[in-house]
Amino acid sequence: MKFDTPAGINPIDRERVIGRPHPRIEGPLKTTGRAVYSYEQHDAAPDAAYGYVVGSAVAKGRIARMDTSAAEGAPGVLAVVTAANTSPVKASGFYKAKPLAGPDIQHYHQAIALVVAETFEQARAAAQLLRVDYSRVDGAFDLTAARAGASRPKDKPDIRIGDVDKALATAAVTVDSTYTTPDHSHMMMEPHATIARWDGDQLTLWSAQQIVGWAVRDLSGKIGVPPEKIRIVASYIGGGFGGKGSVNSDAVLAALGARKANRAVKVALTRPLMPNNTTHRPATIQRVRLGAGRDGRLTAIAHESWSGNVPGGMAEAAADQTEMLYAGANRLIATRLATLDLPEGSAMRAPGEASGMMAIEIAMDELAEKLGMDPVELRIRNDMQVVPADPGRGGTDPQGGTSQADKSAGPKPFSTRQLVQCLRTGADRFGWSKRSGVPAARREGNLLIGMGMASAIRGAPIQAAGARATLRTDGLVSIETSMTDMGTGSYTIVGQTAAEMMGLPLDRVVVRLGDSQFPDSFGGGGQAGAATVTAGVYAACVKLREAVASRLGVNSADAEFTDGEVRSGNRRVPLKDAVKAGPITVEDRIEFGDLSKRFEQQTFGAHFAEVAVDAYTGEIRLRRMLAVCAAGRILNPLTARSQIIGGMTMGAGAALMEELAVDKRFGFFVNHDLAGYEVPVHADIPHQEVIFLDELDPTMSPLKAKGVGELGISGVAPAIANAVYNATGVRVRDYPITLDKHLTRLPALT
Ligand code: MOS
Repeated sequence: MKFDTPAGINPIDRERVIGRPHPRIEGPLKTTGRAVYSYEQHDAAPDAAYGYVVGSAVAKGRIARMDTSAAEGAPGVLAVVTAANTSPVKASGFYKAKPLAGPDIQHYHQAIALVVAETFEQARAAAQLLRVDYSRVDGAFDLTAARAGASRPKDKPDIRIGDVDKALATAAVTVDSTYTTPDHSHMMMEPHATIARWDGDQLTLWSAQQIVGWAVRDLSGKIGVPPEKIRIVASYIGGGFGGKGSVNSDAVLAALGARKANRAVKVALTRPLMPNNTTHRPATIQRVRLGAGRDGRLTAIAHESWSGNVPGGMAEAAADQTEMLYAGANRLIATRLATLDLPEGSAMRAPGEASGMMAIEIAMDELAEKLGMDPVELRIRNDMQVVPADPGRGGTDPQGGTSQADKSAGPKPFSTRQLVQCLRTGADRFGWSKRSGVPAARREGNLLIGMGMASAIRGAPIQAAGARATLRTDGLVSIETSMTDMGTGSYTIVGQTAAEMMGLPLDRVVVRLGDSQFPDSFGGGGQAGAATVTAGVYAACVKLREAVASRLGVNSADAEFTDGEVRSGNRRVPLKDAVKAGPITVEDRIEFGDLSKRFEQQTFGAHFAEVAVDAYTGEIRLRRMLAVCAAGRILNPLTARSQIIGGMTMGAGAALMEELAVDKRFGFFVNHDLAGYEVPVHADIPHQEVIFLDELDPTMSPLKAKGVGELGISGVAPAIANAVYNATGVRVRDYPITLDKHLTRLPALT
């Protein structure tokens, strides 16, 4: 199926199953422990041995000598895999750092060996017997210091429209502020985990992967096994947030270890290895300059962002969304990338926007205060409905979002843009009118109370997708497609799509996901998954309806699939009658034309937060959070809400606690476990409310839907930061806002 004109009315619009708050269909399997995660595939590999990953003890340098003999002779040990005794592992694919180092070391905890033994304990014990001598060299570990040497990435042309400097020089009111965001760790609950098994030259991996197609491609590129010889299964995934976007050391070393040991091998990364061995969200330094007239209309908007990475690694595209967010005749968007010898930075939930909104949305709060204008009103005044023409546009970023969409030079209208409606609804529902425009003006005893808000924007990418649909002889419809469910609700919305299309209740659909041998439908990434996979399932179901109609001898064009029947004219036939002679299986794929080039496809929202700050201790407590979102058709309000509140929780972490502390002498993240890397817990998160505005986006897909998995985090941290400022009158521009950053400056209580 080709989708190249905006969708008209179709069976999805009935919304008998789609758009309804169905609990996730795999929920009972998860709550009863029957959902089998990668590391638990005991039936698939009952004889699996255990692999233990050993990470480098230095950040940069070489392995001078490694003696593996003691480890190899230790009880139960089957093999020790190192770069010296396996075929070369290439840097190839989405993640750029090598999953196996040696002799050169690129970053701290980069894998240098996999010890394979009969039991986990034996593998771990033997790993302590490796003798490794390093020659360590100094590296670049400090973004502030490396910033001077940063350069423009090739795929990130500056956007320069008008003359920002001139406009700033003549603006009635200006802001020129620099903000910093730290490195963040994904810290998903399920660690990176893989079981690998060879059957002759055929390799099967049960692996926690968000995108099984990318995993096949990248594993093939890294270890030189043809893609058609690799199968990757990811039935259930305990979170990923971008950290499982492609193969990490667990998958690559499990494959190599299984080959060397001639046994299936299972590898899970230990929690303390994860932050330095795998990827993280890179730190940024961001300078935002705004110029406005007294009426609040922006005349200049400039957002520059610096980040660092390993050679070949991606820039954190923190400035990009600002191009889409606010009007202003004079514009500058610039991204710079420095080389660092820290672990690789890569995609983490809303890469680009999550960090970028943390700067631009505080800057807007600062501008509103200088203007004496309400921050909601300031944003409404600077709304725009068309992205301005820009000759420099044209970058591509595979992870989706504002930076990822393939862009024309514009001007380009938004397919939908309900930012203003989100702002107004949010202000109304949150009781924004009760906020004092004067900071530190509201008190309850020793508590300083503040409210803050921010806009939200996140790209709405979509990818080509295929699916296989079967009408079985028992009348059930089964769907198979490679899309994964990392806790997001994919199983459920896939089932809802098929149920709606075939006129069945949801419990008459069987959904199978996460296998690279199923028709490809991308995966969970870039908040593209929901729109992508449901479009592929739609295409397959259209074909299944045609096949059913043809078997029943009715015209598929006017056949209605409803209540388990096929109705055409005066005829009503049970759907099941179509499979009296045997099941029907079809497969189709949806391909997209140029609608994403003709229309700017984004999701929008507004975040509101209320905080209480203890004037004596500086402790910040969140009291209330509200998100208002506009993101096309909401396929399932229950699972979509879960996505948004998950994002809001992560945004609260980014605002108040999450930070990988860099040891700038030796080049590693010090707090590399959940004791030291703090994420919000239940006691940190107060009442959360989510409102979805009615929206259909017919330019997206037949479902008229967009994803929401990353919209939920974009804008949350600055809304909280602005609330803290409103409470205290102390502006903190370096995240996270830990109490030490404002304690000595808090107002004295009288
Ligand atoms: Mo995402 S950061 O594209 O999983």
